[in-house]
Amino acid sequence: MHDFVWLLTVSLVLVVIAVFSFIALKSGVKKDYDPIVKKAYRIRSVWFVVLLLVIGTSFVFTLSDLPYNKGGQAIAANANAQVVDVVAKQFAFEMSQKEFKVGEPVLFRVTSADVNHGFGIYDENLIMLTQTQAMPFYVNELVYTFDKPGTYEILCLEYCGIAHHAMGTKITVVE
Ligand code: CUA
Repeated sequence: MHDFVWLLTVSLVLVVIAVFSFIALKSGVKKDYDPIVKKAYRIRSVWFVVLLLVIGTSFVFTLSDLPYNKGGQAIAANANAQVVDVVAKQFAFEMSQKEFKVGEPVLFRVTSADVNHGFGIYDENLIMLTQTQAMPFYVNELVYTFDKPGTYEILCLEYCGIAHHAMGTKITVVE
């Protein structure tokens, strides 16, 4: 990844240098301005339509799924999910339950007693499985079904003060 970013950076710097050199070399050449302006306006109109189509289409495809959790909440309501209340506060998570079963949907109802925190669930290799925000005066619902037994890590994802890095807890999932 680092090699790729390094190569990309060098390539882009070279492109910038090439563009600047091109402009510097051409700067002495005199040309009639009117046709250039007309051409630029044409390019701009076409570009506008292209952007409108690309962005419009992306919006239709990506925003029609919002809110992302609506399916999950419906599943949780139907499947009698375990409901767990989570209160984040500087610098710990209070949870009404910390042991869960494999295959059973869990509905985390996440809020905060003070400032904004994050609520991220990680597996044993610290790969994030799902996350939501813990916000004061608001309850975020997060549905997750664990498919493997083990110890899972909950970590705060939002800088929330001096001991943010130490804010976390563990939960257990059994067969
Ligand atoms: Cu709580 Cu960072």
